[in-house]
Amino acid sequence: MAGNRTFTMIKPDAVKNGHIGAILEQINASGFRIVAMKLTQMTKRDAETFYGVHSERPFFGELVEFMTSGPIVAAILEKDNAVEDFRTLIGATNPAEAAEGTIRKKYATSIGENAVHGSDSDENAKIEGDFHFAGREMF
Ligand code: RTP
Ligand code: MG
Repeated sequence: MAGNRTFTMIKPDAVKNGHIGAILEQINASGFRIVAMKLTQMTKRDAETFYGVHSERPFFGELVEFMTSGPIVAAILEKDNAVEDFRTLIGATNPAEAAEGTIRKKYATSIGENAVHGSDSDENAKIEGDFHFAGREMF
Protein backbone atom coordinates (compact mmCIF):
# COMPACT_ATOMS: atom_id res chain seq x y z
CA MET A 1 0.00 0.00 0.00
CA ALA A 2 1.28 3.49 -0.87
CA GLY A 3 2.26 5.63 2.12
CA ASN A 4 0.83 9.03 2.87
CA ARG A 5 3.95 11.13 3.51
CA THR A 6 6.68 12.59 1.34
CA PHE A 7 9.58 14.94 1.90
CA THR A 8 10.40 18.05 -0.14
CA MET A 9 12.94 20.84 -0.32
CA ILE A 10 12.42 24.15 -2.07
CA LYS A 11 15.96 24.40 -3.44
CA PRO A 12 18.33 27.41 -3.20
CA ASP A 13 17.49 28.71 -6.71
CA ALA A 14 13.75 28.94 -6.00
CA VAL A 15 14.34 30.51 -2.57
CA LYS A 16 16.71 33.12 -4.09
CA ASN A 17 14.26 33.87 -6.90
CA GLY A 18 11.40 34.58 -4.48
CA HIS A 19 9.24 31.55 -5.29
CA ILE A 20 8.67 30.13 -1.78
CA GLY A 21 5.16 31.57 -1.48
CA ALA A 22 3.98 30.51 -4.95
CA ILE A 23 5.34 26.98 -4.55
CA LEU A 24 3.76 26.50 -1.10
CA GLU A 25 0.47 27.83 -2.49
CA GLN A 26 0.53 25.24 -5.28
CA ILE A 27 1.45 22.46 -2.83
CA ASN A 28 -1.48 23.38 -0.55
CA ALA A 29 -3.89 23.81 -3.45
CA SER A 30 -2.94 20.29 -4.60
CA GLY A 31 -4.18 18.80 -1.34
CA PHE A 32 -0.98 18.29 0.64
CA ARG A 33 -0.98 19.04 4.37
CA ILE A 34 2.23 20.44 5.89
CA VAL A 35 3.42 18.12 8.68
CA ALA A 36 6.79 19.85 9.29
CA MET A 37 8.55 22.84 7.71
CA LYS A 38 11.62 25.08 8.15
CA LEU A 39 14.05 27.43 6.43
CA THR A 40 17.54 25.97 6.79
CA GLN A 41 20.86 25.60 4.97
CA MET A 42 22.60 22.29 4.30
CA THR A 43 26.29 21.88 5.09
CA LYS A 44 28.56 20.14 2.56
CA ARG A 45 28.42 17.04 4.73
CA ASP A 46 24.61 17.19 4.92
CA ALA A 47 24.30 17.39 1.13
CA GLU A 48 26.84 14.61 0.55
CA THR A 49 24.89 12.38 2.94
CA PHE A 50 21.44 13.35 1.67
CA TYR A 51 22.35 12.76 -2.00
CA GLY A 52 24.81 9.92 -1.20
CA VAL A 53 23.11 7.62 -3.72
CA HIS A 54 24.47 9.91 -6.48
CA SER A 55 28.07 10.05 -5.17
CA GLU A 56 29.53 8.30 -8.24
CA ARG A 57 27.63 10.43 -10.76
CA PRO A 58 29.49 13.09 -12.78
CA PHE A 59 27.19 15.87 -11.51
CA PHE A 60 27.66 15.05 -7.80
CA GLY A 61 30.12 17.88 -7.07
CA GLU A 62 27.89 20.46 -8.75
CA LEU A 63 24.84 19.08 -6.96
CA VAL A 64 26.48 19.41 -3.52
CA GLU A 65 27.81 22.88 -4.39
CA PHE A 66 24.36 24.02 -5.51
CA MET A 67 22.40 22.50 -2.62
CA THR A 68 24.69 24.20 -0.07
CA SER A 69 24.76 27.57 -1.89
CA GLY A 70 21.92 29.14 0.12
CA PRO A 71 18.92 28.45 2.32
CA ILE A 72 16.28 25.87 1.45
CA VAL A 73 12.78 25.21 2.73
CA ALA A 74 12.54 21.63 4.02
CA ALA A 75 9.09 20.13 4.57
CA ILE A 76 7.24 16.89 5.23
CA LEU A 77 3.94 16.67 3.35
CA GLU A 78 0.91 14.43 3.86
CA LYS A 79 -1.68 13.22 1.33
CA ASP A 80 -2.92 9.83 0.10
CA ASN A 81 -0.34 8.42 -2.33
CA ALA A 82 1.97 11.31 -1.36
CA VAL A 83 5.24 10.22 -3.02
CA GLU A 84 3.79 9.56 -6.46
CA ASP A 85 1.36 12.48 -6.46
CA PHE A 86 4.08 14.90 -5.41
CA ARG A 87 6.43 13.66 -8.16
CA THR A 88 3.60 14.32 -10.61
CA LEU A 89 3.09 17.82 -9.18
CA ILE A 90 6.79 18.76 -9.50
CA GLY A 91 7.35 17.30 -12.99
CA ALA A 92 10.41 15.79 -14.67
CA THR A 93 13.95 16.36 -13.33
CA ASN A 94 14.80 18.37 -16.44
CA PRO A 95 12.41 21.36 -16.62
CA ALA A 96 12.63 21.24 -20.43
CA GLU A 97 10.85 17.87 -20.19
CA ALA A 98 8.48 18.78 -17.35
CA ALA A 99 4.74 18.85 -18.07
CA GLU A 100 2.94 22.18 -18.41
CA GLY A 101 1.78 23.58 -15.06
CA THR A 102 4.21 21.55 -12.95
CA ILE A 103 6.37 23.29 -10.35
CA ARG A 104 9.59 22.57 -12.22
CA LYS A 105 8.13 23.75 -15.51
CA LYS A 106 7.18 27.05 -13.89
CA TYR A 107 10.11 27.72 -11.58
CA ALA A 108 13.16 25.60 -12.51
CA THR A 109 15.91 27.04 -14.67
CA SER A 110 17.94 23.92 -15.57
CA ILE A 111 18.31 20.19 -14.79
CA GLY A 112 20.77 21.11 -12.02
CA GLU A 113 18.88 24.08 -10.59
CA ASN A 114 15.42 22.56 -10.65
CA ALA A 115 13.55 24.40 -7.87
CA VAL A 116 12.29 21.46 -5.78
CA HIS A 117 13.14 18.01 -4.47
CA GLY A 118 10.62 15.22 -4.03
CA SER A 119 11.28 11.83 -2.40
CA ASP A 120 11.30 8.89 -4.82
CA SER A 121 9.90 6.18 -2.47
CA ASP A 122 8.07 5.78 0.84
CA GLU A 123 11.26 4.42 2.37
CA ASN A 124 13.31 7.45 1.28
CA ALA A 125 10.55 9.85 2.33
CA LYS A 126 10.88 8.54 5.89
CA ILE A 127 14.72 8.62 5.82
CA GLU A 128 14.79 12.15 4.37
CA GLY A 129 12.14 13.53 6.74
CA ASP A 130 13.98 12.07 9.72
CA PHE A 131 17.24 13.56 8.39
CA HIS A 132 15.83 17.10 8.68
CA PHE A 133 13.30 16.93 11.52
CA ALA A 134 13.02 15.70 15.09
CA GLY A 135 9.78 13.98 16.09
CA ARG A 136 8.66 17.03 18.09
CA GLU A 137 8.86 19.17 14.92
CA MET A 138 6.30 16.97 13.11
CA PHE A 139 2.62 17.85 13.57
P1 RTP B 1 15.43 15.21 -6.62
O1 RTP B 1 16.04 13.97 -6.00
O2 RTP B 1 16.19 16.46 -6.27
O3 RTP B 1 13.96 15.34 -6.31
O4 RTP B 1 15.49 15.09 -8.21
P2 RTP B 1 15.09 13.84 -9.10
O5 RTP B 1 14.70 12.70 -8.24
O6 RTP B 1 14.11 14.32 -10.11
O7 RTP B 1 16.46 13.53 -9.83
P3 RTP B 1 17.67 12.63 -9.32
O8 RTP B 1 18.01 11.69 -10.40
O9 RTP B 1 17.41 12.10 -7.95
O10 RTP B 1 18.85 13.70 -9.25
C1 RTP B 1 19.02 14.50 -8.10
C2 RTP B 1 19.35 15.90 -8.50
O11 RTP B 1 20.64 15.94 -9.11
C3 RTP B 1 20.67 16.98 -10.07
N1 RTP B 1 21.00 16.45 -11.38
N2 RTP B 1 21.80 17.06 -12.20
N3 RTP B 1 23.40 17.75 -14.43
C4 RTP B 1 22.68 16.63 -14.46
O12 RTP B 1 22.67 15.88 -15.41
C5 RTP B 1 21.89 16.30 -13.29
N4 RTP B 1 21.14 15.22 -13.15
C6 RTP B 1 20.57 15.32 -11.92
C7 RTP B 1 19.28 17.62 -10.11
O13 RTP B 1 19.28 18.75 -9.25
C8 RTP B 1 18.42 16.52 -9.54
O14 RTP B 1 17.23 17.05 -9.03
MG1 MG C 1 15.83 12.01 -6.60
